[in-house]
Amino acid sequence: MRVTEGGLEFEVPGESTDGVEESVFYNPRQELNRDLTIATLRAYREREPRADSYLDAMTASGVRGIRAGADGWEVTCCDRDREAVSLARENCRRNDCDAGVVHGDANVVMHEDYYDVIDLDPYGTPMPFADAAVANCRDLLCVTATDTAPLCGAHFASGVRSYSAVPRNTDYHAEMGVRILVSALARTAARHDVGVTPLLTHASSHYVRTYLELEQKATSADATLEELGHLYHCEDCLYREADPGLIANPLETCPNCGGERMLTAGPVWLGRTCEPEFVADVRERVPDAFGTAETGRALLETLAAELAVPTHYDQHRLCKEWGVSANAMDEFLSDLEAAGHEASRAHYGGTTFKTDADVAEIRAATRDGTGE
Ligand SMILES: C[S@@+](CC[C@H](N)C(=O)[O-])C[C@H]1O[C@@H](n2cnc3c(N)ncnc32)[C@H](O)[C@@H]1O
Ligand SMILES: [Zn+2]
Repeated sequence: MRVTEGGLEFEVPGESTDGVEESVFYNPRQELNRDLTIATLRAYREREPRADSYLDAMTASGVRGIRAGADGWEVTCCDRDREAVSLARENCRRNDCDAGVVHGDANVVMHEDYYDVIDLDPYGTPMPFADAAVANCRDLLCVTATDTAPLCGAHFASGVRSYSAVPRNTDYHAEMGVRILVSALARTAARHDVGVTPLLTHASSHYVRTYLELEQKATSADATLEELGHLYHCEDCLYREADPGLIANPLETCPNCGGERMLTAGPVWLGRTCEPEFVADVRERVPDAFGTAETGRALLETLAAELAVPTHYDQHRLCKEWGVSANAMDEFLSDLEAAGHEASRAHYGGTTFKTDADVAEIRAATRDGTGE
């Protein structure tokens, strides 16, 4: 069947049945991911004009690489699946794209050459590809992880194995995934004396996507490691605390409620996961013609305004905990601000927010605290 994306036409096998896409080669639900990739590449080229070569390391139908090629990138597509490679070649011909399409293992292909931008989009965890990627990427590493259950601690042992970290299942599970993923990539990069700066990161429908700018310098790798630390979380009252550094000092009891059901997660990335100005630049480069333009712009707007604190809250979850009904988010956030706290919406869901207030301060500042 034919699909159109980003103004180009692609041949992909498989039909949609009852809304479930059967084809392994083209996932229409990842269109937002791909639209944002193209907008990010546009913004990145202005930030780093020397960036020219782009490796679509797991290309499947070739859609992502071919879209980048249409934007002037010098593209190499790679897949280890023979059928995917012939499909990607056919799609290149159809779109007059001169991308090289390589049949091989992404790790081998990455070790054979350097690329300015490398894009990892595997099924599940990207970690088996992370070493080769940071060792052979000059500027920008784009990574998708779809194994959200391991990342957020719901599949605990698998998360520990893949990410060499302790993820914990909390009410901010998607953000746990973001911070476990960026931590693991940062520690991988550090092994190669490479530092990372996350320019844009989002957790959307069952995947995490991050764009890391790389700097090949041991001092930059050292600075990167300083962004790591641990999260202590109370399962009783949802109090949480961030503790910078690679050595954990777990809390045995909760400073807020005295409870003993404390979780420790880490090392997680505690630093910024987005650069707001870059995110705003990406937003400017989402054209109306993109299929997900509206959703993409709304997501980027929220991301650009998100407070740089390591965890978020869900207003409904808190109100349930406190046994009060939830009011409008805008009112809730202005109550926090009126009490002298910083507050912003978060992109993790319609009732999620970030604040520098702790759980007791949130309660005191909002309707439950005032009894209104
Ligand atoms: C999620 S799909 C990629 C989707 C594609 N990037 C897109 O945007 O539509 C994952 C692809 O990775 C390929 N793959 C898995 N392991 C690989 C490896 N070690 N080297 C190269 N390709 C691999 C699979 O054959 C599959 O086509
Ligand atoms: Zn507590």
